[in-house]
Amino acid sequence: MLWRRSHEREASQFLEGPPVTYPLEVVVLPTPEDVDTYAANAVIAQQKMKPKSVYIMPTGSTPKGFYQRIVDACKKRQVSFRKATIFNLDEYWKIDPWHPDSYASYMRVNLIDHIDIKAKNWHIPNGNTDNPIAEAKRYEALLNKHQPIDLAILGIGMNGHIGFNEPGTAVDAPTSFVKLHQSTIERNSDQLVASNETKLHALTIGPAEILKADRIMLLAKGIDKADAVNRAIRGQETSQLPASYLRRNKKVTFVLDEAAALYLPKTIRGTHSSRREEQRYSQVQFGYSV
Ligand code: GLP
Repeated sequence: MLWRRSHEREASQFLEGPPVTYPLEVVVLPTPEDVDTYAANAVIAQQKMKPKSVYIMPTGSTPKGFYQRIVDACKKRQVSFRKATIFNLDEYWKIDPWHPDSYASYMRVNLIDHIDIKAKNWHIPNGNTDNPIAEAKRYEALLNKHQPIDLAILGIGMNGHIGFNEPGTAVDAPTSFVKLHQSTIERNSDQLVASNETKLHALTIGPAEILKADRIMLLAKGIDKADAVNRAIRGQETSQLPASYLRRNKKVTFVLDEAAALYLPKTIRGTHSSRREEQRYSQVQFGYSV
């Protein structure tokens, strides 16, 4: 009886099957600045193709150069965001949006104040709310009205987090009020400009919403990210590394500098290969199932 029950359980697990994952595109570029240029060109091309595009955008040190290039292009009138919509990935809690350490301030300083986006078309979770759970629901409902997002641009944490979806986050987790991991708190405290008060909580778009995007582009720079990048691209899908969920989306591009790509096999590192080449490579080498 005992045997039968466990046998049945195994059979049902088999029927459920492994998650469907897709080969992803890996673009390895010589320098961090090349990552900025590549990402900016992708957004400029997207805007030209569809002026009403909707984006998810990240914060952190990684995208600063990319934002600078977007700002420059906008000032030179090479691109316009007049019809575009931007959703920020995440925000600390509890923090006033005008506090210099808020992600809202980061976005204003690095992007929003310098491009022609309409104020009503830029969204970020309200980190100053007394009811963060309700705020997560409000933000998700708003985001859902705009799905599918045309392009979600992400960074990656050293521990493999995307947004503030820390290790342990389920693949179907919605937009949530979350507790930050100690390693994230320590790493991000270096980036605080105006306070020593570390943030222990945040609001973040969840993997469920990120994965609904039409296209995802993850940017990573530096050796600090090499391990997480390698595991996200080649390891098993696991909640311990939420970036590994990204392979469930059909159009994911990892844009890496040489340092962030250090642990990838030479066949990937050495080429700035096309999606088709990567697909072939991924299927043969890693057996990604489609
Ligand atoms: C924060 C953000 C993430 C970002 C990560 C990496 O934790 N919530 O969205 O990807 O930092 O930051 P950095 O680019 O500074 O390494």
